[in-house]
Amino acid sequence: MSTTDDYEFRTFAAAAPDGVADDATREWFEAESMGFLEPRPLGKRVDLAAANMAADGRMLTGVFRRDAATGASGTASLAALPVATFASFERTVNVGGDEPLRAHLISSVTVRPTDRRRGILREMMTADLHRAHADGYALAALTATEATIYRRFGFGVATAVHAVTVATDQRFRLLSEPAGSCELIAAAELLSIAPDVFAEFHARNPGSVDRQTRYWRLVAGLDSEGDDPEEDRAVRAAVHRDETGRVDGYVSYRFKGWESTPRTVEVVDLVAQNDDAYLGLWQLLGSIDLVEKVTHAFAPVDDPLRWALADWRLLKTTSLDDWLWLRVLDLPAAFQARGYLPEVAGEIVLGVTDALGYASGVHRLQVADGRGVVTADADADPDVELDASALASIYLGGFDPSMLRAAGLLRERTPGALARLRTLLTPTAPVYGITHF
Ligand SMILES: CC(C)(COP(=O)(O)OP(=O)(O)OC[C@H]1O[C@@H](n2cnc3c(N)ncnc32)[C@H](O)[C@@H]1OP(=O)(O)O)[C@@H](O)C(=O)NCCC(=O)NCCS
Repeated sequence: MSTTDDYEFRTFAAAAPDGVADDATREWFEAESMGFLEPRPLGKRVDLAAANMAADGRMLTGVFRRDAATGASGTASLAALPVATFASFERTVNVGGDEPLRAHLISSVTVRPTDRRRGILREMMTADLHRAHADGYALAALTATEATIYRRFGFGVATAVHAVTVATDQRFRLLSEPAGSCELIAAAELLSIAPDVFAEFHARNPGSVDRQTRYWRLVAGLDSEGDDPEEDRAVRAAVHRDETGRVDGYVSYRFKGWESTPRTVEVVDLVAQNDDAYLGLWQLLGSIDLVEKVTHAFAPVDDPLRWALADWRLLKTTSLDDWLWLRVLDLPAAFQARGYLPEVAGEIVLGVTDALGYASGVHRLQVADGRGVVTADADADPDVELDASALASIYLGGFDPSMLRAAGLLRERTPGALARLRTLLTPTAPVYGITHF
């Protein structure tokens, strides 16, 4: 029996008229919270989440058992909830081109333990990607709680981050003085400051994804956990100003408490538009007396802070994490939207296999004058052969194709082709994103 015989798939827009979640959105959100092992949401928490999702323009998919009335779920109320959830919405991804590229973002993927491994995810994902392709998106994107799920659907890791700890005891010192200055502000002020600071970060950094509505209350400490979201008074904030006084970065952070050993501050969000702002904000974090350690869960992999510290060893990487996963839905459009270094020119033929078909074929990429053009060339011999997942991983230029070859993920058919490919795909700026969705 097929999945569709057992289940009904309903896709609808998230809605919160007058700030109150409608029934379908509330039930969907309760199911999603269950899937992510979060407390059962109540009260204003539900309405705020629904309002945020509606503001994002999220389309929600809920999957219902056709036999729900007599379902095995136990209670009547749980039987009526979706057994699986899925959400998608539009945001832009900076791909290094003149303008960020609108992309199809996927989130909230859950399937109830009683209903898993019956093809529900496959059904939701393939139907959703089909719609996204029909709607003209060149890229789909997600951030994953598990790294084993999405490669089969053609997604590949496109950006990574470092989780770091930085010792901020008396040894903390920067080798050079960053320009500009920092100032503490009330965290709530970030509600108006943060979106503008982030907008320029987003415009500058390949791999950045424009943020969803929920972010700004979170980073401003206005969305604590609990049924009645209120101010998280532990969140503190600072801005960095350049030499003209313009705000060009901010950090929000939380002290982990006197019982934390060593006494620790964790970064909630750190957004810097340039190197001085980045180092200036770290200098501030390193100057908080009584604190001996600062943690940051999504620092850049190529982190200038390591080099800026008088003692390189103060910064420890605690993990290297996959961050943005991309999926190419329209290869010519994706590579034409991408940015290329103006001094780079050349061409390469990619032979792509794609189980879902969207990127399949032999494609000739020609790069000149900062532009890339892709033409189908079925008769050409590919210089490089790869699947859709590997294609997504090399797309932004954040990872070396030779590394993927060494890992057995792609094949070089023409000697020297991988070095050429790496050069052609050199990113126009460091690949780094700080949006989780
Ligand atoms: C991950 C999850 C959504 C999978 O849903 P599902 O309906 O069981 O998946 P499907 O039955 O459609 O499986 C599709 C394929 O993915 C594989 N798969 C599913 N979950 C997997 C996992 N966690 N790890 C590795 N493979 C997985 C299946 O084996 C199947 O492989 P196949 O197509 O080669 O046969 C579900 O287990 C879940 O809700 N987990 C908890 C929440 C979560 O982790 N969500 C991910 C958010 S990023």
